[in-house]
Amino acid sequence: NTDKLWGGRFSESTDAFVEAFTASVMFDRRLYRHDIQGSRAHARMLAHVGVLTDAECEAIVEGLDAILNDIEAGRFDWDIGLEDVHMNIEARLTARIGAVGKKLHTGRSRNDQVATDIRLWLREEIDHIRAELARARRGLLELAEREADTIMPGFTHLQVAMPVTFGHHLLAWYEMLARDSARLRDVRRRVNVMPLGAAALAGTTYPIDRAYAASLLGFDEVAANSLDAVSDRDFAIEFCAAAALIMTHLSRTSEEMILWSSAQFGFIELPDRFCTGSSIMPQKKNPDVPELLRGKAGRVNGDLITLLTLMKGQPLAYNKDNQEDKEPLFDAVDTVRGSLRAFADMVPAIEVKRERMRAAAMQGYATATDLADYLVRKGVAFRDAHEIVGKAVRRAIERDCDLSELELTELQAFSAAIDADVYAALTLEGSVAARAHYGGTAPDAVRARIRQARELLDNE
Ligand code: ARG
Repeated sequence: NTDKLWGGRFSESTDAFVEAFTASVMFDRRLYRHDIQGSRAHARMLAHVGVLTDAECEAIVEGLDAILNDIEAGRFDWDIGLEDVHMNIEARLTARIGAVGKKLHTGRSRNDQVATDIRLWLREEIDHIRAELARARRGLLELAEREADTIMPGFTHLQVAMPVTFGHHLLAWYEMLARDSARLRDVRRRVNVMPLGAAALAGTTYPIDRAYAASLLGFDEVAANSLDAVSDRDFAIEFCAAAALIMTHLSRTSEEMILWSSAQFGFIELPDRFCTGSSIMPQKKNPDVPELLRGKAGRVNGDLITLLTLMKGQPLAYNKDNQEDKEPLFDAVDTVRGSLRAFADMVPAIEVKRERMRAAAMQGYATATDLADYLVRKGVAFRDAHEIVGKAVRRAIERDCDLSELELTELQAFSAAIDADVYAALTLEGSVAARAHYGGTAPDAVRARIRQARELLDNE
């Protein structure tokens, strides 16, 4: 069957179902721009070393450019019989410029071609994702600055633990996303390595200049082993792991927004444009966007596991299994990009209900540790102070009041070390202001970190 680019040794045509089953053009056509970019560089490199004449190279490059225009103008019919994006474009090139088009594939295989395409594509997507992360981070810093003095309860075990500032809580979110961005920058270094020249698996007999092609394509490095270059997809797995962590962070922050926007917490109100209603319950306003972010984290975990599982049993070098790398990788990229966009749009628009946060911090004896620290400052051993404060809390529970509402004489019954100045330690403002060291929750510490983080972000 000679209508295939590889048909020479075949005596019957491909089974119609097998043809569709083995094709990837339905999804890998998404790589068309990077496939053409790689082919142009390959042709220029071949001319540079004298394997193609300059005229042949120009004909090929012009043909590829025309095909790029056709694809972008919607004038390209993708043919499943041509299997994948690479053979669709190559066949079209020959149809367009004639026999010279057949010279493009000299010293190259689809194996190094596809690995190059994915890396070019992923490199660009990583840059988009990091730009979206930077936007989300800037939004968080702005909101944190506005809410640097806002007091809310901090939780452990979802029980009120100590008062914190809302600005500080938002900065905790910021740190997660800052690490995510650094992780992607690191992944990108290993993505930006060029497989081209590995050919099918063993390299090629032509006098290729891989460094030249790499410089045309902006690769930092050339893959050092041809077998490894065409077979490993660890760079895609690593990307998915970083993507899964981004989604984990968006999921955790979303879970908090969902809790906080419930009537029981009432800490924030999400803008209507990020919520939907119920078709039966007229009063409902559901936090759909954060719920979806939480749910979509599961998809990306799945993409990561798909790629790990795809890879683990493969002997070197290339196997067709690797064609299955694309859909999970595309899905991870699309999901992370969309999710970050929604997050970056939504977070700066949340309405903060400061009085509700403050009222919640007043419940649950959030300043009990401050009272213990106060006693320690007056010379009481911490373990004894812990015991004393525990008793005071029990009294406050019996009286259904806050620690700061107990009479001085009542407090002094628990410890003679207590004086009238104890009330300064029992206030929410005193509690947060006292934690002013680097990384602490005090408004001044929050503002200092915002300044520092802005400067680091500007220089990334
Ligand atoms: N469509 C293939 C893929 O995505 C391209 C490489 C095919 N190579 C081969 N020897 N069949 O991996």
